[in-house]
Amino acid sequence: MPWTDRAGPELKYAELAAELDALLQGETDPIANAANATAAIFYSLPDLNWAGVYFLRGTELVVGPFQGRPACTRIPLGRGVCGTAAAERRSVRVPDVAAFPGHIACDSASRSELVVLMMIAERLLGVLDLDSPRLARFDDADQAGCEMLATVLAHHLAALP
Ligand code: SME
Repeated sequence: MPWTDRAGPELKYAELAAELDALLQGETDPIANAANATAAIFYSLPDLNWAGVYFLRGTELVVGPFQGRPACTRIPLGRGVCGTAAAERRSVRVPDVAAFPGHIACDSASRSELVVLMMIAERLLGVLDLDSPRLARFDDADQAGCEMLATVLAHHLAALP
């Protein structure tokens, strides 16, 4: 059974964050760490059809490691859910992607989406993007939990150019 069914979501996200930190400990390669992190997240959180990262490269986001169907490679800042989150430096939670103007559809199964920032201090490294085939899949606890996961991951991406 998915871990989120067994106890309060805050506690379980804290446990997942600790597991993620342990999983990435000792490796400095950012691609390796982003790959393992997105796989761990994809297989730990229920009802996802895509989990991955976009790295900030100048004025664009460029897709990095992910689990799910092939995705849009480059997203200009300000475009779509990911580009909005990066441009406005805030998490963006979309309960119904059909109602979000400019949503970029990568997998037609996606119904809701959560994008959180990967930051170290004031530096934006990129975003963590989660898609779900279920409407309104993500709530406040998911947002807070995923913000924590993205912060843990960001600290294992220190070698990014
Ligand atoms: N839906 C995103 C694009 C990335 S895919 O979901 C993987 C967006 O609108 O930014």
